[in-house]
Amino acid sequence: MDITAGDGRRLHTPRGVYPGSFDPPTHGHLDVIERAANTFAELIVAVVVNPQKREPMFTLEEREAMIQECVSHLPNVRVEHFRGLLADYVKKKHADVIVKGLRVVSDFESEMSTALMNRSLSNVDTMFLMSDQKYSFVSSSIVKEVFFLGGDVAALVPEPVMRLMAAKRATLRSST
Ligand SMILES: Nc1ncnc2c1ncn2[C@@H]1O[C@H](COP(=O)(O)OP(=O)(O)OP(=O)(O)O)[C@@H](O)[C@H]1O
Ligand SMILES: [Mg+2]
Repeated sequence: MDITAGDGRRLHTPRGVYPGSFDPPTHGHLDVIERAANTFAELIVAVVVNPQKREPMFTLEEREAMIQECVSHLPNVRVEHFRGLLADYVKKKHADVIVKGLRVVSDFESEMSTALMNRSLSNVDTMFLMSDQKYSFVSSSIVKEVFFLGGDVAALVPEPVMRLMAAKRATLRSST
């Protein structure tokens, strides 16, 4: 969609893509999604099918459904998944921006080279949103680790995610 600027120029309203594994989605992810949805006309949350990551806790379909449930109040957000290169996906989707969250310095180190590589492959820039202070320590990995060791992670993930995590743990326990 195009809009007309004050000086008469036609401007394109930006479409962002927020990629991640979201295994599971956390309040940190949700916070980035909500802020990006306020910034871009359209936001695609793209679940990455990454064969390099070890066995995920949730299937692709489960992750997409959980995110969908958590973003139902945001009309300009849609949830998809992709395989292969992010650069190819953003070109296919005619995205203007890749959105990422930044928590700590170690995120910056890896994201910097990824962002430069993606721009050289697709000519699409990456924009970073700083993590909210209260979620700056939250990752899917740490949530899973604490949860499976019996810790309380209810404050770190949306309520529907918490329910599905409990159900998944029960299934895993009954099958071992
Ligand atoms: N708490 C958070 N605050 C801000 N951004 C976040 C937060 N958690 C994840 N992100 C960002 O979300 C994007 C997708 O991340 P990803 O799905 O890999 O989550 P993750 O929590 O880092 O998972 P994992 O622990 O499996 O690496 C990345 O840009 C990541 O920096
Ligand atoms: Mg990570």
